[in-house]
Amino acid sequence: MPDDAWQLLRLMDGFVTTQLLYVAAKLGVAEALTEPKTAAALADELHVDADALTRVLRGLALEDVVSEDEGTFALTALGAHLPALKGPALVRGELYFHGAEGLLDAVKHGGTAFERIYDAPFFTHLDQYPSHEAAFEASMAGRAEQEAQAVVAAYDFTLLKTLVDVGGGRGVLLNAILRQAPHLDATLFDRPAAIEAARPHVPKVVAGDFFEAVPPGADAYLLSRVLHDWDDEDALRILATVRRAMREAGRVLIVDAILPRHARDKPAAIRMDLHMLLLLGARERTEAEFRALLERAGFHHITVHPTDSPAGLSVMDAR
Ligand SMILES: C[S@@+](CC[C@H](N)C(=O)[O-])C[C@H]1O[C@@H](n2cnc3c(N)ncnc32)[C@H](O)[C@@H]1O
Repeated sequence: MPDDAWQLLRLMDGFVTTQLLYVAAKLGVAEALTEPKTAAALADELHVDADALTRVLRGLALEDVVSEDEGTFALTALGAHLPALKGPALVRGELYFHGAEGLLDAVKHGGTAFERIYDAPFFTHLDQYPSHEAAFEASMAGRAEQEAQAVVAAYDFTLLKTLVDVGGGRGVLLNAILRQAPHLDATLFDRPAAIEAARPHVPKVVAGDFFEAVPPGADAYLLSRVLHDWDDEDALRILATVRRAMREAGRVLIVDAILPRHARDKPAAIRMDLHMLLLLGARERTEAEFRALLERAGFHHITVHPTDSPAGLSVMDAR
């Protein structure tokens, strides 16, 4: 078989790779590999089947997550990131994996892949399944840990006095902002199901629905990785709620990836766009699409502050 065909078959085995990484994250393989170990010793420590674990480790060796030397396995530089990315690995294996099966149907007939499989919109499903809610929020926090510094470096939050982080998740970004601007009077706003996980991490939290109302009177409203979860009509409803709440001359700060002209220019933005297609029937946007959306919502004086995050994030400031 030609090399290209082997390569294509390897791509088709992406489903195996997702589950290998899920199993490793769930069992704590990276945490247990503090030093090189045989598969048998590791299986003993993790109380799992030695034969199956050996084969999983060899699969992970193919992806350079662990190295293999005469039956002894060690963590590679790549694998060393697994503990920090445990949340993203768990939510992919437990929730997104199954939801992705709806893609063909969604492409043929429209709609959202996730909803076709789980029979409910994404956030409604999370409201009903606390373990999936916890996995999702942990994943958001894991991703935000990788991105927050780049956002804070790209935008001067010290000029603000009051800030509401709308859909702030566990508050990873808000905490990075507060380290830069400790004087800031900051509130994290999120769904009731999500807010308890944020409470220990940030000083002020408020629960609610951003289609109804958000805390009023702040001079800035942060929407980080929120608008990409929604189509234009819903994004406009969220922006309208924010606009109603803000004081005169307030500003909205959008943190999202900006879609590149060519997919290969920003692979992480393209992959996130596919997550949006699969899970929420939503999308990442180009800069022109963001500008048009903000103008339609009555926001002007738009400035774009690109970050150096590999995720392709920018901070868009509009008044
Ligand atoms: C993709 S996460 C982004 C989290 C965080 N801002 C970040 O940058 O990592 C979207 C957030 O929007 C919240 N959310 C979804 N629907 C909401 C609603 N109707 N009202 C308030 N928050 C909502 C979710 O709970 C979640 O925390």
